[in-house]
Amino acid sequence: MTVVALASLKGAPGVTTMACLIGSGWPGGRRVVLCELDPCGGDLAPRFGLSARCGWSSFSLSVRRTSPKAITPLEPHLQQLAGGLQVLAGPVSGGAGDWFFPFGSLLEAAGGSCDLVVDLGRMPTEHRGIGGVLERVDALLVVVRGDAPSALRVREQSAQLRARADDRVGLIVIETGPYPPSEIASFSGLRLAAAVPFDPGVASVAGGSDRSERRFARSSLFASSALLAARLTAEPTEPTIVRDPSASRWRIRRRTGRLPSEEPHLPAGWEERREPPVPCPPVDSLAASEVEG
Ligand SMILES: Nc1ncnc2c1ncn2[C@@H]1O[C@H](COP(=O)(O)OP(=O)(O)OP(=O)(O)O)[C@@H](O)[C@H]1O
Ligand SMILES: [Mg+2]
Repeated sequence: MTVVALASLKGAPGVTTMACLIGSGWPGGRRVVLCELDPCGGDLAPRFGLSARCGWSSFSLSVRRTSPKAITPLEPHLQQLAGGLQVLAGPVSGGAGDWFFPFGSLLEAAGGSCDLVVDLGRMPTEHRGIGGVLERVDALLVVVRGDAPSALRVREQSAQLRARADDRVGLIVIETGPYPPSEIASFSGLRLAAAVPFDPGVASVAGGSDRSERRFARSSLFASSALLAARLTAEPTEPTIVRDPSASRWRIRRRTGRLPSEEPHLPAGWEERREPPVPCPPVDSLAASEVEG
């Protein structure tokens, strides 16, 4: 079972869209559920015309009504997107106080039967309110765009993220420019898990728009997301012994190799023509200009 969380630190860079793309590109033969745990409110139900009552809210309620020793089944709370991806939709209104209360129950419910892609939305600055989640995922992917404000925010937060999710944290950079993904990664000190193209047409289809996009399955955006999904589910190489924060005990966890150690390379022919980069100051000068400003 693989549990991957996606989150943002600023703005709306495309977390939900990436979560849908990664879930849709999940390797065949493995079952995956997209879980929407965005404390600012869910988008899946309104975007895909799903019921807002069936999902995280109904699951949380069932957990409270079930005996602590029993496992709450996940199945009755799932809905399906047109492409077949199963989702646990978040409530449309945000701000529920105990949002992450049953995350452990969600992991239990999923058991070994499915992988989870979790949309955490925008993480609060102090990472409060998501206690227990970051420690329990196999990979935490922070979605950012390639602009200066995003680069600064990631750099500001990177030490805190590494303290919570150590080597499991990586970046998905949407190639909006002006800064190339590798520069955003080295500036922030976080590993680059994937660089994905900026493609509004394919992104809007992945996000539930009705418009038809014949390029979808052949697009570089879908291909790079599917490639990342394949890397995330690749068989781990070495087992590692880690401390389980929930149980205060040591356990063996096979997670080595979950995050790509280098940017995934697209198969030949996938690469689309890119616009030449816009001239911009070197990313390292950003920190200095921030101090001066
Ligand atoms: N790779 C991409 N290329 C072009 N546009 C994109 C891409 N990914 C997302 N978008 C667009 O960005 C907008 C925001 O996307 P999305 O809702 O996924 O962001 P989010 O980070 O989940 O936002 P929020 O924090 O509000 O939930 C949408 O219009 C979406 O189509
Ligand atoms: Mg979102």
